[in-house]
Amino acid sequence: MSERGSGELVLEAVVKEFVGRGAPVRAVDGVSISVAPGTLVTLLGPSGCGKTTTLRLIAGFERPDAGRILLDGRVINDVPPNRRDMAMVFQSYAIFPHLNVFENIAYGLQVRGLESDVVRRKVGELAELVGLSGLENRQPNQLSGGQQQRVALARALVLEPKVLLFDEPLSNLDAKLRVQMREQIRALQQRFGITSVYVTHDQAEAMVLSDLVVVMNRGIVEQAGTPFEVYRRPATAFVADFMGRANFVRGKVLEASAAAARVAALGTTLTVPGGEPPLAAGDDVTLVIRPNAVVLTDPTADANGALRGVVRRAWFVGPQHDYEIVVDGQPLAVVEHDPVGRLPRPVGSDVELEILADALAVVRD
Ligand SMILES: Nc1ncnc2c1ncn2[C@@H]1O[C@H](COP(=O)(O)OP(=O)(O)OP(=O)(O)O)[C@@H](O)[C@H]1O
Ligand SMILES: [Mg+2]
Repeated sequence: MSERGSGELVLEAVVKEFVGRGAPVRAVDGVSISVAPGTLVTLLGPSGCGKTTTLRLIAGFERPDAGRILLDGRVINDVPPNRRDMAMVFQSYAIFPHLNVFENIAYGLQVRGLESDVVRRKVGELAELVGLSGLENRQPNQLSGGQQQRVALARALVLEPKVLLFDEPLSNLDAKLRVQMREQIRALQQRFGITSVYVTHDQAEAMVLSDLVVVMNRGIVEQAGTPFEVYRRPATAFVADFMGRANFVRGKVLEASAAAARVAALGTTLTVPGGEPPLAAGDDVTLVIRPNAVVLTDPTADANGALRGVVRRAWFVGPQHDYEIVVDGQPLAVVEHDPVGRLPRPVGSDVELEILADALAVVRD
């Protein structure tokens, strides 16, 4: 594959408003994103938060009302889609129904006027890479959904674009195939080093695929960070909640340094990692406690300072036990991984809880 140029994509305070009969909708409300060359960034968020609109702005199908979009340092706000050196893979496969697999993948190359032996070589390479070898003569209606999506992927990759855009490309596939395909997309993206923007509302997909996750909500960026950062160090309660199950517990900061803070919560004092901006004594905060960040033990006779709770509900889930445990009057969701297959602790039993400090996050009120 040939050199693609660096493919650095930057959005600066981009705004897109749709004006219809009712009140105008700010689908994208001042979004700034920086995609480093060769990396994959996901736009993650609930339905209607502006993911597709952001992607369409990048592709050039929509024009920003304000802000700038830059590719390799050049403002491309006014560059038409076909001149942006980008390719898009959609949720619906959007392959030509009357062309076979070979012709579908070859189409863009032929439009560019490449010689037929070059086209044949490149299509062969791509078909091999995405696992379509031997199916070149099939019509789309003779392919499974996963195979059709591979055609769409090959058709985009074969053009060697500077930027690859994906809009929920796997949402029509069954769960198992989705997992397979997302691994394949990540492997191909890394192998080619193509700058990519990937829209999804599936947080697991975002975590597995991304160098950077951009969590969106109502047209704004709530947080941009690595998968670890958005999961472990959520900037807002929205991000914490969207990235996975969480307990939200109110607390008050007793003392704080840059590295850590002591917070009164759940009738005890918990140590939490320092926040950014730094926490100060007296701050009201919300602690984010993931259900798997709690270790349960049998109560010791000497309860000196230990966090105590009572099992209110318990579920056997196979690889884990799920509990609702009441601590200081508050129900907490707790997950206990159980490699040996014991039954869950009985309802009504007393437990001691250790909340792992590293797994705690703080969001401000
Ligand atoms: N052409 C349009 N005209 C008017 N409003 C629009 C248009 N396109 C999108 N919107 C509105 O803009 C907002 C963002 O839409 P968008 O399609 O970007 O969301 P999304 O995050 O991709 O959602 P989903 O996960 O459901 O695909 C929504 O409120 C939507 O109704
Ligand atoms: Mg969408």
